[in-house]
Amino acid sequence: MKHIFNKGKDASKPTLLMLHGTGGNELDLLPLAGMIDDEASVLSVRGNVLENGMPRFFRRLAEGVFDEEDLVFRTKELNDFLNEAAEKYNFQRDNVIAIGYSNGANIAASLLFHYKNALKGAILHHPMVPRKGIELPDLTGTPVFIAAGTNDPICSPMESAELQKLLDDAGANVELHWENRGHQLTQEEVQAAAIWYRKL
Ligand code: MLT
Repeated sequence: MKHIFNKGKDASKPTLLMLHGTGGNELDLLPLAGMIDDEASVLSVRGNVLENGMPRFFRRLAEGVFDEEDLVFRTKELNDFLNEAAEKYNFQRDNVIAIGYSNGANIAASLLFHYKNALKGAILHHPMVPRKGIELPDLTGTPVFIAAGTNDPICSPMESAELQKLLDDAGANVELHWENRGHQLTQEEVQAAAIWYRKL
C-alpha cells in the first residue's frame, strides 16, 4: 500500500497508524499525529480503492452502505500490510495505535471487528459500525476513543452509541466523546483525544 513511514524519536512509543477520510491521502493526517504524540513513529497509509478518483480504504455501494465483501478483503489487506511494515521498518507489531477519520476510522474499526491483535488501541474520529451481525474477537482491555458529532449526517448518534456498545461488549475500554457538530474533525476532539492518549 502507498504510505509514509516516519521513524519517531522514542522507539518505546506506539506506532501511530494514520488512516485518512474519503478523498484524502497519506499526507492529510500527519499534523494530527504530531498533536497526539510527537515522539512516536508514524505510518500513514493511502487507501487502495478509488471512488471517482477519491482514495478510500474499501468500496461502498452508496453513502453509508458498505460493500461487505470488499470491506473484509481490504481489512485483511491492511492487516497483512501492517505485518510486513513492522518487519520492514522494525517497529513492534503489537504496539500499533490507529488514528482514523471517517472512512479511515471505519477501516480501523473493521480491524478491531475482525482481528484480535491487529491494534493495541484506536482513536476513531466519526466512525460508523463497520459491519453488523458478526461476533467480535476478544478485545479485553483494548483502549478505544470515539469522537462523534451530535448532528453528524453520515453517522447518527444512535450508531455511535451502538459502536461503543459492540466494542464494550467485546471487552474494549471505550471513551465516547461528543461534539455538538457534524461530521467534521474538530480541534476540540483532537485535543480530547490527545488527553485520552496521555492517560494510556
Ligand atoms: C464511509 O463510506 O466510510 C463513510 O460513509 C464515511 C465516508 O464518507 O467516508
